[in-house]
Amino acid sequence: MGRLQDRVAIITGGAHGMGAATCRLFAAEGAKVVVTDLDEAAGEALAQEIGGAFMKLDVSSEADWERVVAGASARFGRIDVLVNNAGMLIFTTIEDMTGAQMDKLLGVNLKGPIFGMKHCGKVMKRQGKGAIVNISSVDGIRTANALGLYSASKWGLRGVTKTAALEYGHHGVRVNSVHPGGVDTAMGNPRAAKGDDLNADYSRVPMQRIGQPEEIAAASLFLASDEASYVNGAELLVDGGWNAGIYYPGTPGAPAG
Ligand SMILES: NC(=O)c1ccc[n+]([C@@H]2O[C@H](COP(=O)([O-])OP(=O)(O)OC[C@H]3O[C@@H](n4cnc5c(N)ncnc54)[C@H](O)[C@@H]3O)[C@@H](O)[C@H]2O)c1
Repeated sequence: MGRLQDRVAIITGGAHGMGAATCRLFAAEGAKVVVTDLDEAAGEALAQEIGGAFMKLDVSSEADWERVVAGASARFGRIDVLVNNAGMLIFTTIEDMTGAQMDKLLGVNLKGPIFGMKHCGKVMKRQGKGAIVNISSVDGIRTANALGLYSASKWGLRGVTKTAALEYGHHGVRVNSVHPGGVDTAMGNPRAAKGDDLNADYSRVPMQRIGQPEEIAAASLFLASDEASYVNGAELLVDGGWNAGIYYPGTPGAPAG
């Protein structure tokens, strides 16, 4: 408790999924949480539940960022933490990819976090302290078929995280990326509503299960807190070992399956 006591934290895509889990955990650790999202009803409800504030934010809009950063600064006087969590996924092959899909997805997944770093970074630089956590993906380190567009955004976010770490580090502002594997949210588990056994899809993950949003939130909490005071430009995989190598179920050292 209290690992973010009285810190002001802006979390994008905070209304659902791992963003919501992060809002809840940060509030439980004493943060003043600014829940931001496109979904006003869910965002307002969560803010009320955790005693935070809700501000509508389309992360792909720089004008929205300017309004939210000005509003949060005016209301709380500072911004200590930014979690660039909002994201979207489009499955498409390179052959089928359209310009409209590229503009949309890169606007949310890559331009959005860059705008966030640009505008929150200015405030944090003035304070001489801040922490930014960018939610990338295992697909920001490797990729898969039909994930070219998503991977382009997540590899880009991993790269620009390191640029930001270099540009902001000497101002006391740390910038790191988190790389979740499959996580049990609407994005990571669209079949849950149908009652499918989602863990069956994870036979090639050494931990043999999907991740939970709270497990990603815990990684963001570490990077946002003073426990990570010398961690800057790092990438933290939270994927049950998925990216460690090729895991062959049914061979020695692995359960049969
Ligand atoms: N779920 C997974 O398996 C998984 C794995 C690796 C990385 N990620 C990444 O984690 C992050 C969170 O994913 P999730 O699984 O919780 O997704 P989710 O779909 O459950 O939630 C995404 C949230 O982002 C919001 N959002 C979407 N577009 C927005 C926009 N333009 N502006 C503001 N908010 C917007 C949505 O309203 C929603 O609240 C994303 O960046 C995603 O790419 C997810």
